[in-house]
Amino acid sequence: MLDNIPEHGHWSGRLVFILAVSGSAISLGNIWRFPYMAGEYGGGIFVITYLVFLLLIGLPIMMAEIMLGRMGGHSPIYSIRKVAETNGQHRYWQVIGWLGAIAGFLILSLHSVFASWSMGYIFRAASGAFEGVSVDGVKAVFGFFINDPEKQLAWHTLFMLGTYYVVSRGVNRGLEPAIKVLMPLLLLILLVLLGHAVVSDSFTEGVRFFLLPDLGRISYLEQMSHVILAAMGQAFFTLSLGAGAIMAYGAYLPKNIPIMSTTLTIVLLDTCVAIIAGMIIFPLLFSTGLHAVDVVNGLPGQYGPELIFQTLPLAFGQIPGGVFYAAVFFLLLVLVAWTSAIALLEPFTAYLVERFSFSRQRAAGMLATMAWLLGIATLLSFNEWSDFRLLGNVAIFADKTIYQLLDFLASNILLPLGGLMIAIFAGWVLDWHTTEDELAHGQGYSSYAIWRFCIRYITPLLLVIVFCYSLLKALGEIPGVP
Ligand code: PHE
Repeated sequence: MLDNIPEHGHWSGRLVFILAVSGSAISLGNIWRFPYMAGEYGGGIFVITYLVFLLLIGLPIMMAEIMLGRMGGHSPIYSIRKVAETNGQHRYWQVIGWLGAIAGFLILSLHSVFASWSMGYIFRAASGAFEGVSVDGVKAVFGFFINDPEKQLAWHTLFMLGTYYVVSRGVNRGLEPAIKVLMPLLLLILLVLLGHAVVSDSFTEGVRFFLLPDLGRISYLEQMSHVILAAMGQAFFTLSLGAGAIMAYGAYLPKNIPIMSTTLTIVLLDTCVAIIAGMIIFPLLFSTGLHAVDVVNGLPGQYGPELIFQTLPLAFGQIPGGVFYAAVFFLLLVLVAWTSAIALLEPFTAYLVERFSFSRQRAAGMLATMAWLLGIATLLSFNEWSDFRLLGNVAIFADKTIYQLLDFLASNILLPLGGLMIAIFAGWVLDWHTTEDELAHGQGYSSYAIWRFCIRYITPLLLVIVFCYSLLKALGEIPGVP
């Protein structure tokens, strides 16, 4: 039966694949979460720890996801099933694909809401709403926006339509042309913002705060272990692993493209973007006299997504040309969210096409509508439904709004669990020869042997730790970055 499933197409080359996977991986985690964590956790100390875990967790799992995708050649659900069956294993392993597709779907709806705020903010910034604005002013703009569900709904709808449009046209007529335009634009904007930061007076000060190891800042941490655990979690989250997206993109990778070196390039690109983002954000905040504490904590009493929509507009409002740079910055956020959203809608769409022979338009349309509906619930959880608790009678979820609940389920449960199962499946269930054929292929035996050692022993162990930590943190047992 699996032989008759339709194919979805292939990337036309290595570069477009690198851009596509990077587009999926680069998102708010790179632009905001990474710099923010580095600020909170001792600058260079966090960055170095993060890089180590990127090599031990992120890189091996990403290679495994791309490998499994290419071996299966279909949506993550069918790819895993096919690989399992051809290797004499039970098809129930396809649960990995389901976990990913469901997590991806939930994250898509969250992404859309976040993107809709950024879209609204492009116009606010461009109209000069933040010029010389005060702390109270910036809070008022945000409060006004967040309490206006209709406006957000309009942006949310537009964003979802844009995502639907690209995915409904398929790999070669939709995804690939979109990526070829969006990714260079996104990288160009980053460079423009970086150029502006480099010539600013506070560049050195900001970058020193961001990248130099500062044990002084660690000393006021409760424990060094927080730095390590936060770095581990981020090394996994930043590459969009466990969400089906990378595996789905791997399925469209032509056989002659080497996986290991290509993945390394993607991880480098993702890291460069995160570092550049920090080099943009810190000098900006320092140049406007916002103290390091503001950088770390945002405006007093504000945590989570509010940070980016208040602290940064405040800073942009104080620099010459801030209207332009702020608008461009929020455009950047929309672009990173869009390229990720496309990758998140793809796995389930591919599955519906395979399973029910739906047309792409129909499959993508149904899913985008469902994600849109879920997005509305998320959007309302910031205003009309902010007191509503879907699982209010379940102790561990009792205090979570719909947004917090979906984010918790996807990021803290489904993603790490999916990643762990991928490591077990690729490292323990598949034998040496099967994975060597796909991975080592012209890439040198020793790098393959290192990969196999990591994916069997180190990566799963670290992922179990990430999983337990993020669970405890989300349950409020451990304080940390919100
Ligand atoms: N990788 C994204 C980021 O860095 C987050 C993400 C995770 C996106 C999983 C999709 C799936 O922000």
